Amino acid sequence: MDRRYWVILLIPIIFVTFYFSTSLRDWIQHAPSADLKSVQQNGLMQAAQKSVLLLKTQEYGLGLLLDATSNHSEEVMLQIKLNRQIQDLILSSLGNSELSNKLKSEDYSCRIRDLSTTAKRDGVAWRPSGNRYLLAICTSGQMSNHQICIEKHMFFAALLNRTLVLPSFKVDYNYQHFLDLAHVQRCLGNGTVISFEDFLAMKQGHVHVDLLLCYMHGCYLDAEHERKWKALGLSWEQKQDAWPEEALTKATPSHPHAAEFVKKFSTDLEVIAIGDVYYADVEAHLVSQPGGPLLHSCKAIIQPNRLIVLTAQRFVQTFLGNNFLSLHFRRHGFLKFCNVKNESCFFPIPQAADCILQKVRVSNPAVIYISTDAAESEINLLQSLLLLDGRHIPLVRRPDHDSREKWDALLVRSGLASDSEVVAMLDKTISALASIFIGSSGSTFTEDILRLRQEWGTANSCDDYLCEGERPNYLADID
Ligand SMILES: *[C@@H]1O[C@H](CO)[C@@H](O)[C@H](O)[C@H]1NC(C)=O
Ligand SMILES: *[C@@H]1O[C@H](CO)[C@@H](O)[C@H](O)[C@H]1NC(C)=O
Ligand SMILES: *[C@@H]1O[C@H](CO)[C@@H](O)[C@H](O)[C@H]1NC(C)=O
Ligand SMILES: *[C@@H]1O[C@H](CO)[C@@H](O)[C@H](O)[C@H]1NC(C)=O
Repeated sequence: MDRRYWVILLIPIIFVTFYFSTSLRDWIQHAPSADLKSVQQNGLMQAAQKSVLLLKTQEYGLGLLLDATSNHSEEVMLQIKLNRQIQDLILSSLGNSELSNKLKSEDYSCRIRDLSTTAKRDGVAWRPSGNRYLLAICTSGQMSNHQICIEKHMFFAALLNRTLVLPSFKVDYNYQHFLDLAHVQRCLGNGTVISFEDFLAMKQGHVHVDLLLCYMHGCYLDAEHERKWKALGLSWEQKQDAWPEEALTKATPSHPHAAEFVKKFSTDLEVIAIGDVYYADVEAHLVSQPGGPLLHSCKAIIQPNRLIVLTAQRFVQTFLGNNFLSLHFRRHGFLKFCNVKNESCFFPIPQAADCILQKVRVSNPAVIYISTDAAESEINLLQSLLLLDGRHIPLVRRPDHDSREKWDALLVRSGLASDSEVVAMLDKTISALASIFIGSSGSTFTEDILRLRQEWGTANSCDDYLCEGERPNYLADID
């Protein structure tokens, strides 16, 4: 670690120590009048409180640093020891007061971002050899699953030295609407990703797929999807399962090593298509790391487009401010989805409210932004239960468009305000900007928010799944 870093760490410690030694000394030596004394004492108490808060935050950050680096652990431990000594000094000057006890017991761990995300990444370089293409087919699940499928296709195109052709918006989502594809190009280089429309134009309106090789049985392409693809000007001889012996016996083929994937899919044919790779587990440790499996120097590759980011920022400035907790509260379909799992993830509203209040207690947000598909009745009940020490914590939802409000003007003007993928991405972006995030376990929407937070450096060590580590306090029978 750089020496300058230690200087930065030491400055607040020296400052705090100096402040207390001189002002305490002055206060004792000059024995001020009773009024002045109480004013000064109040000021001193406030300064002590702030200093302990700063020191605790620093102590917590040093702890994370200790976990993240192995080389300088002795130096970090020494700094933690120093930090604690100063805390003890300040706390002892406060005597056995109520404030002193409060400061001792308070948990500041939620007031700092998660430093572990700055760890170094591994990755694969993507240098398409030119004139070799991989056409991405993504059909399973909704937007967040498709996005993961596209990310895996990018990895596979890199492993195969091919240019990735994105699916047409006529058979899939319009990725241009909610992702920043120009940013992807800037980060990964020209010729890595092209749109289907550009590819089709390059091929004069007809694309022959030389090999359609299915990762999942039948590429997850049903007759309706095949008809749509063919109507675009695409043709192929036949679909082939890459692992025919597994296709029918296993729900998801497992092939964790890149070498195995490359061996199976490597060919010199010009255009290949691979269908659906959402469930692929090739080098999962690389794919799941913040920043993804490819080598690049950007913070994030897959991120919302600029219009959505600006709209999210304007929303935060209008309604939320710099200290809000964000909650993704997935309910629709989750009662059945969660209850067939070993540990259900569907919590009764009062239990969910308790879990949220535990986070509120340690992070003290002004408001909670809620992104949910829950019914009004559930949200209203949740809101009524969000009471902490007599204060109601407001739940804020994204309101419908109102022409008197300007936060969504950019999306309205570009005709994207009612595009459901754009709106979903807007919700993700707002949540990615929150001080703390609580998600729904088992939701790819939540996973995508956690990924963005890690990549943008907004992740907080207190980010969590709702009621993580708990089980629902009531479970219905399975029907
Ligand atoms: C630890 O030190 C070695 C040798 O000085 C260096 O190569 C390595 O990058 C360091 N690792 C970290 C995490 O600082
Ligand atoms: C991709 O290109 C690299 C570097 O030229 C080469 O080592 C590798 O074998 C190629 N992989 C495939 C599948 O063609
Ligand atoms: C990529 O393409 C853009 C626009 O066509 C161009 O401005 C840029 O210089 C290219 N970058 C590289 C590295 O070739
Ligand atoms: C459920 O999970 C618990 C703890 O993780 C485990 O002990 C138990 O065997 C699991 N039950 C089933 C049916 O998988």
